[in-house]
Amino acid sequence: MKKVGLTYDLKTSYQGKSNDPKDANAEFDHPITIDIIARAIESQGYQVDKIGNVSNLLEKINKLDVDMVLNLSEGLSGRNRESQVPVLLELAGIPFVGGDALTLGLTLDKIMAKKIFIAEGIPTPKFFQVQSADELINRNHFKFPAIVKPRFEGSSKGLSESSRVKNHQELRSQVEYIVDAYKQPALVEEFISGQEFTVGVVGNDPPCVLPIVQVQIDGKLQLNDMFYTFARIDSDRLEYVCPAPISKKLQDRITELTLKTYRAVECLDFGRVDFRVDRRGNPYVLEINPLPSLSIEDVFMLTAKRMNITFEEMIGRIIKSAFIRYNLN
Ligand SMILES: Nc1ncnc2c1ncn2[C@@H]1O[C@H](COP(=O)(O)OP(=O)(O)OP(=O)(O)O)[C@@H](O)[C@H]1O
Ligand SMILES: [Mg+2]
Repeated sequence: MKKVGLTYDLKTSYQGKSNDPKDANAEFDHPITIDIIARAIESQGYQVDKIGNVSNLLEKINKLDVDMVLNLSEGLSGRNRESQVPVLLELAGIPFVGGDALTLGLTLDKIMAKKIFIAEGIPTPKFFQVQSADELINRNHFKFPAIVKPRFEGSSKGLSESSRVKNHQELRSQVEYIVDAYKQPALVEEFISGQEFTVGVVGNDPPCVLPIVQVQIDGKLQLNDMFYTFARIDSDRLEYVCPAPISKKLQDRITELTLKTYRAVECLDFGRVDFRVDRRGNPYVLEINPLPSLSIEDVFMLTAKRMNITFEEMIGRIIKSAFIRYNLN
């Protein structure tokens, strides 16, 4: 029986600091989520070794007896945090599911990812970076509204109702907040008013694009100025609609851009691309997640249900893609 190691960060093992923002551990998993994923892997005919986080991996790396690692670890801080587990596994010659250290670092840093999108002709909202609010003094020609995000975070960290800014004063105070609370540059992006979609992908050669999911907030699909904030994730105001009730033309365009983005950053085995579509129907790629959450209530798994695939089968498909890719099947 093949053995699959599991690497992850638990919410419960994160030692918070007193000046942490309240969403500091948003990206980490609940122990229950990890147990459910471990059982799903077992149901697909593998044995599971729960390795834990990057420090646990470092301690055990020379003694590990696994054929493959399913890496769900987000790491603690900095833009290379998601790359730490893959780079150690690569060094030790242990095969792993998902993109490598370069893909994970590149996509966690939203500005680096956007530079790749532009080079590949993938539409993405116009943007600039600010390291401190004082740099804004020379920026008088920017179009409002804009959205201010941390440069390298996920799980909607740093996003609240005040992230959408309508004038210079609001922009300045939000940039100050991001730089100060998240200790990193702020990404200022043109706000795309309209609809929002997120699209999962599984496999390689060729990757399979999953049914398109549309984000609904307060019962509305035309989100206009509404967006996905940290506070909304845990509320029942946000829902996922799948399949998205959109024209064939928009479906085809989103599918094409999803594949192009997945390939541009060299995602492997699975991933998820986030889009906004403006009022005229033009899609923009916001980001790609090469480590989308696999928890049962998350959007990736919701699509599995729509495809009549069980949660367990979807986990099996992702792991199998990696075994095939390494010729270990
Ligand atoms: N340019 C934009 N225009 C409109 N809304 C945006 C824009 N950028 C981000 N948003 C909103 O903020 C949300 C989070 O942004 P984004 O996907 O870039 O960050 P994230 O925190 O990495 O996301 P995730 O929660 O998927 O990990 C988006 O889902 C969207 O609702
Ligand atoms: Mg996102």
